Amino acid sequence: MNSQTLQPFGQHLLSTVWHAEHDGQRWHAGRLAPREALPVTVAGGTVHYGLSVFEGLKAYRGANGRPHLFRPRDHARRLQQSALRLALPTVPEALFLEACAMLLAAVDDDLPPMGAGAIYLRPTLYASDEGLGLRPGRRHGFTVIANPCIDPPRKQLRLWAEPVMSRAAPGGLGGIKAAANYAAGLGGLLAARDRGYDDVLWLDALTHTALCEAGTMNVFAELDGVLTTPPLDGTLLAGITRDTVLALAAQRGLATAEAPITLAALRAASAAGRLGAMFGTGTACRLVEIVEIGTDQGPIVPTAGDTVETFYQALKQAQEAGDEGWNWPVPASTVATAAVEAASA
Ligand SMILES: Cc1ncc(COP(=O)(O)O)c(C=O)c1O
Repeated sequence: MNSQTLQPFGQHLLSTVWHAEHDGQRWHAGRLAPREALPVTVAGGTVHYGLSVFEGLKAYRGANGRPHLFRPRDHARRLQQSALRLALPTVPEALFLEACAMLLAAVDDDLPPMGAGAIYLRPTLYASDEGLGLRPGRRHGFTVIANPCIDPPRKQLRLWAEPVMSRAAPGGLGGIKAAANYAAGLGGLLAARDRGYDDVLWLDALTHTALCEAGTMNVFAELDGVLTTPPLDGTLLAGITRDTVLALAAQRGLATAEAPITLAALRAASAAGRLGAMFGTGTACRLVEIVEIGTDQGPIVPTAGDTVETFYQALKQAQEAGDEGWNWPVPASTVATAAVEAASA
C-alpha cells in the first residue's frame, strides 16, 4: 500500500491513466500514460456540446489479497448504451475490461487492503477532434482514471425535493451516464445546499410530484413493508448498486417493487406510520440513509430501522467478498486473460 493517506472519494487522482484513441474507423491499442500528458482540446465537441459519457466502478482487494472488479461487465454495457445515445463509438467489452485490468495492475500499490477502501475507476469516453458546429465527433478518446478512496463512511443525508428545476425529461439523457446530466444537476445541488440540505432529490420533470433520483444516487423507500424504488423509465440512471440491492433483497425474501413513488404517497405513509427507512445507493457512496426530505409543504421524515445497516453490510460483503450465486466480483487476473483472448480471437 502506497504511503499516501487514503482520502474520501474523488480527491486523490493517480497520475497514471489508461488511454486509447479512436480515429473514426477503429480503436487503436491502449496504453498507460501520465494523465497530465493527455491532450484535451478546448475547441471540440466535448467542451462545447457535452459529447462525453463515463462510468464509475470500484476495484477491491479480496480476502486472498488479490484485486477484483465489481460487476465490470455491467458497467461496460452501460457505457455502450450511453455511447450510442450521443453517437460516440462504443467501447467493446473486452477493451473496457483490458483497460481496467491494465490500469489496476499498474496502480496495485494504491489498492487498500480488504475492508479499508477501494480504487474507484472512472472510464471516460469523449470526442477529441477540433471544430465548432454540432455534429458527431470524428475522433475520440477513451481514458480510465484511478482514484483510491476510503471505504464510504456511514452518512445520514437530508434531501431537498426540487420543485422547479429538472435534471432529465422523458426522451432526454437521464437514463445514460452523460456528463451533460451532471451539468444540468448542479443548480439543484446548489439550491438544496442554499436551503441547508445536503443534496437534491429530483422529481419527475412533467409534474414535479414523483421521485426520480438524488444527485448521484438511486433512491429507495420502505413503503408498507415493500422496498420500493422508482422504475427505470429513461429519466434516471439504471444504477448497478440499485440492481444489486434489489437482488440482495429478493435473496432475503423481502418484497420489492419498481414503482412510482409520489411525495404525496410518502407524506400519507409517514402520517399513517407506514413509511419505514429511506436510503440512496451508488458506487461512490455505497448506501446512505435519507433522514429527511424537505419540500415546500414541509418535511417528510422516514422512520429509522435496521434496514439501512442491513443493506449497507450486505452490499459491502457482496462488493468485497462476493455472494454465493452471483459472479459479481470479477478477479482482475481473469479480466486481463479474457481481454487478451478476445483481442487474439
Ligand atoms: C445520477 C446517478 N444516479 C445513480 C447512480 C448510481 O449508479 P451506480 O449504482 O451504478 O453507481 C449514480 C452513480 O454513478 C449517478 O450518478
